[in-house]
Amino acid sequence: MTSRHTYLLALLLLLAACSKPTVQIDPVDRRVDSLLSLMTLEEKIGQMNQLEGAWVNDDLDGQIRAGQVGALLNVVGAEKVNHYQHIAVEQTRLGIPLLLGRDVIHGYKTIYPIPLAQGATWNPDLIREAAEMTAREATSDGVRWVFSPMVDVARDPRWGRVAEGYGEDTYLTSVMGRATVIGYQGADSLDAPIDGQHVAACVKHFAGYSASEGGRDYNTTNIPEQQLRDIYLPPFQAALRAGAGSIMCSFNDISGIPSSANRHLNIDILRNEWGSRAMLVSDWGSGSDLVAHGYAANRREAAYDCISARMEMDMQGLVYQDYLKQMVDSGIVTMEQVDDCVRSILRLKMRLGLFEHPYAESTPDFYADDALLLARRVATESTILLKNDTLDGQPLLPLHGVKRVLVCGPLADAQKEQLGTWIFDGEPEHSITPLQALHEPGTGLEVTYEPGLTYSRDTDLSGIDRVVKAAASADVILYFAGEEAILSGEARCRADITLPGAQAEMMHRLHLTGKPVVLVVMAGRPLAIPDEIGQADAVLYALHGGTMAGPALADVLTGLAVPSGRLPITMPRMVGQIPIYYNHKSTGRPATTPILLDDIPIGAPQFSIGQSSYWLETGDKPLFPFGYGLSYTTFSYGPVQIDETEAKTGDVLRISCDITNDGSRDAQEVAQLYVRQQAGECRPVRELKGFKKVSIPAGQTVNVCFELDTRNLAYWHADLTNRADPSAFQTWIAPDSRSGQPVEFTITE
Ligand code: NOJ
Repeated sequence: MTSRHTYLLALLLLLAACSKPTVQIDPVDRRVDSLLSLMTLEEKIGQMNQLEGAWVNDDLDGQIRAGQVGALLNVVGAEKVNHYQHIAVEQTRLGIPLLLGRDVIHGYKTIYPIPLAQGATWNPDLIREAAEMTAREATSDGVRWVFSPMVDVARDPRWGRVAEGYGEDTYLTSVMGRATVIGYQGADSLDAPIDGQHVAACVKHFAGYSASEGGRDYNTTNIPEQQLRDIYLPPFQAALRAGAGSIMCSFNDISGIPSSANRHLNIDILRNEWGSRAMLVSDWGSGSDLVAHGYAANRREAAYDCISARMEMDMQGLVYQDYLKQMVDSGIVTMEQVDDCVRSILRLKMRLGLFEHPYAESTPDFYADDALLLARRVATESTILLKNDTLDGQPLLPLHGVKRVLVCGPLADAQKEQLGTWIFDGEPEHSITPLQALHEPGTGLEVTYEPGLTYSRDTDLSGIDRVVKAAASADVILYFAGEEAILSGEARCRADITLPGAQAEMMHRLHLTGKPVVLVVMAGRPLAIPDEIGQADAVLYALHGGTMAGPALADVLTGLAVPSGRLPITMPRMVGQIPIYYNHKSTGRPATTPILLDDIPIGAPQFSIGQSSYWLETGDKPLFPFGYGLSYTTFSYGPVQIDETEAKTGDVLRISCDITNDGSRDAQEVAQLYVRQQAGECRPVRELKGFKKVSIPAGQTVNVCFELDTRNLAYWHADLTNRADPSAFQTWIAPDSRSGQPVEFTITE
């Protein structure tokens, strides 16, 4: 503790001792209030100001010294962190430490698979471990606050940020988001202190950002209140209940109100309904963006709108810095409004122990063996086997009796691209690519490498000719296709989610060689590639797997590991089906037997092909449903058992079934519990209510049992009450969202 702090602490203790406590006040709150009482308005506004610290602002030293800065982003490394922290702690009047934030999204130096791939593991314990390991690396470099997890439920794979979340399902996203928060913060209770090996999480983007119209980033949204509350908000609440220290506003508007100015979201729901005390930070400039939104007439008005909606910290928007003082001085904004914001900020700083330990003290701890091992395991568990044809009486994968493999494709040896989006601190030179990993002597493979295309958008066909030639002497072709990292993530939306460049052409040509082709897709989103999947003999959908993507894929290809990833998002057949997600509502005319475009006789009378809900080109089904994924074994599901078929709201039902591993490999299966309410306010055709990733030894059977709390059947009704209805229900325990045999139960009241 610095001398300035010792003095301050003594002063605070004295103040605290003089005031006679009547009610039990949380000691942190008391400390916060004491400190607040010493602060000038300018110092308070300084705390609400977060500035970029690497390339945007000049004279940060001066501004920090003047008490005008409460937080920085993008400052990493002990030397730089301590430089700024030293100014804040030793050279400002009150010595309040800075909060240093960073976009650490799926790993710090060791990069784990993108969050969408983490969703594909369906293994929250593993994801918690990855977050904890990430915190260890990040804190070793001075980072104490990360802008993650993103829990935006994404139903539109055109949206580039689909890569950053856990997929299309509210429940899966809630479970994964919660696990990530607990891993980062090292505890799962609301105000638990966050120690020096952990970081404060920032759950984002509040709210509805992923519903951007047409999947175009920053776009407006159209979200009815019920949908907002049923689909988009629960993961935020789950993360906050797990103790997330902060929450970030989103860029979008809902019904004309941008999030940074949205009192309904930020005050009514976040503070009043949920009682959350997490610190609310804007997104980068989302406060000043109110002008471009056409919401505020100018930046001053924007500042007013933001403080009125209790946006507590302004990330590089500068509207508080520029206008808040005038507005408080002229009485337009009250000191109480400012104090509410500053309290949250100070509380988070205290929770992080920054007043006691402001400086980065540890030495960098990057790429440790246990971190790399964990990254490899997460990448392995996130790999989804979509197809595995039997050739010569055996499934193509895992490779067996194969010596000579031809490795090709733009993602086979792309150290940077396999890391995916948002890797500020990840270093491509540490990535191990599939090509490198397959070359390892342990694989027993003779590897020939001919990339064919050198990057995903490459359209130079001459390389493909060389691949085709090389294929003549190969037993199997391993084609690593997909997207470069820059094609997904923030502001990286695509209108056409097929394989870019000449990759589809390359798949076609490889198929024509007659050699078995394994297609491995490394991308930031689900792609609409039915033809390529049709032409391949086996398909691994790997997304962007991070630093250890190569070894993980080699493990899966050679059979050292059994794939256990399951789709966290629906794979469409074609872009025109989007949005297509498993938990859609039923229509009044569900698809029966679609008659497709090519099957309609020329001149057919208007009503001769029936009237149901589907697309003429593709029917109503996706290419692969949510939850889908194969294994190197097969599992059979016994009948679903339920302990009570009649229950009241509040009862807990036990729903179970036997799952048998019918093959000769020990493997993990993801048992998924789905529910459908038969009558109510147009309920989804299925909703995920639980899942368990279980290890089942070869030839054995395990009983998987879920406890379904019937209160979790409640949903938001048109009258905006949240309640469960008496109704008949169906429930499944199934390997994906489209299969299984349901049993019925009834909720009587
Ligand atoms: C904008 C992004 O939307 C957000 O997710 C990120 O954390 C901030 N910029 C900070 O870089």
